[in-house]
Amino acid sequence: MFGLFSAEKIREARKDFPVLKDEIYFDNACMSLKPIQVINKLNEYYTQYTACLGRSNHAFARKLTEEIDKARSEVRKFINAKEDSEIIFTRNTTEGINLIANSFGLKKEDEVIISDKEHNSNLIPWLKLKKTAGIKVVISKTNDDGTFNLENFRKSFSGRTRLVSVIYTSNIDGVTNPVKEIIKISHLHKVPVLVDAAQAVPSFEVDVRKIDADFLAFSGHKMCGPSGIGVLYGKKQLLEKLDQFLVGGETVQDSTYDSYIPEKIPNKFEAGLQDYAGIIGLGEACRYLRKIGMNNISRHEIKLNALLTNLLNDEIDTGKIKILGPKDTKQRGGIFSFIIEGIDIHHVSRILDSSKKIMTRSGAHCVHSWFNARNLNGSVRASLYFYNTEDEVRKFAEEIQKIIKLG
Ligand SMILES: Cc1ncc(COP(=O)(O)O)c(C=O)c1O
Repeated sequence: MFGLFSAEKIREARKDFPVLKDEIYFDNACMSLKPIQVINKLNEYYTQYTACLGRSNHAFARKLTEEIDKARSEVRKFINAKEDSEIIFTRNTTEGINLIANSFGLKKEDEVIISDKEHNSNLIPWLKLKKTAGIKVVISKTNDDGTFNLENFRKSFSGRTRLVSVIYTSNIDGVTNPVKEIIKISHLHKVPVLVDAAQAVPSFEVDVRKIDADFLAFSGHKMCGPSGIGVLYGKKQLLEKLDQFLVGGETVQDSTYDSYIPEKIPNKFEAGLQDYAGIIGLGEACRYLRKIGMNNISRHEIKLNALLTNLLNDEIDTGKIKILGPKDTKQRGGIFSFIIEGIDIHHVSRILDSSKKIMTRSGAHCVHSWFNARNLNGSVRASLYFYNTEDEVRKFAEEIQKIIKLG
């Protein structure tokens, strides 16, 4: 038992997920499952008010406008942004980061600081700019246990630093970075910060005003929302100054054959016909998660991860299992990323799936740079969410022990 989120509440919540049967789904850091409330909301758009936004003046279009406005407000509340216009709908985290990379106006020799644990989505856009615009990508090294090194970070600044872009929570090992401190340090240098919050927003309360983030990107599909919809948050005064990325329909107020007047935020950044069902589905996902309670979610993830770590304690202590990240589960959220000594990671993941229908992910989790630097080909990652149970964790630990014994 932990607070209000009892085993009974988890059993109730599980009923919301039609896909959950006897499979043990531990691949939540890749994508979460979808509750019926979100699925119904998607259906609602396709069965009750299929229309375009802002182009037509009829009942379907009016209803859609109302629903999109509600969804934007719901997302704003979810991350405690100040104004709805600070919420830009994108396809995913990757697109949000690309928007900033392409609109920020970085020039030759400008410097961007990232950490050495960034997902490809927060590495490749900067490497591309290194190639095409001649910017410098400064890598701030983290500690050996995966925690953030503020001293290294402080030393990464120079007179040419223009932007910091870092993960909030790592998808390799679940470590959450001290973003408030990172942002404070960056602001002392008058450098804005883009936060990749793809793994943070689904798992704990993210408050963009408390941490003072300038930009923050996340994806709907990891937080019970539809796939193909994401969010870029930005402070209003920064978004207003920012150049457009994708342009075309919906991004301009007026045009002639040789000029155009850009729209105001958020439309300025939302080019072409949008994923309306996805947007209202994401709004519903925010409502759903708020009902479950973000504190309940983070506590539950940590509790399950602590149980799992405890059950496999002997194997960890004797070096049969190597956990990525700190051993302290409080610092690893819902991620248990591991390597079994002498057994191929993909083989482990396949056995778990075929013997007990336990779904994990094996590989480099799109952070090839970090694994390559350590001569590793990846890890097996079990990632837990609020609908996972202690029983599932026990089955998983037993299966891992069997795999180790059979070698
Ligand atoms: C930390 C982190 N950043 C970025 C992404 C990319 O998210 P998406 O593919 O939804 O753009 C992921 C996805 O796994 C992630 O874990």
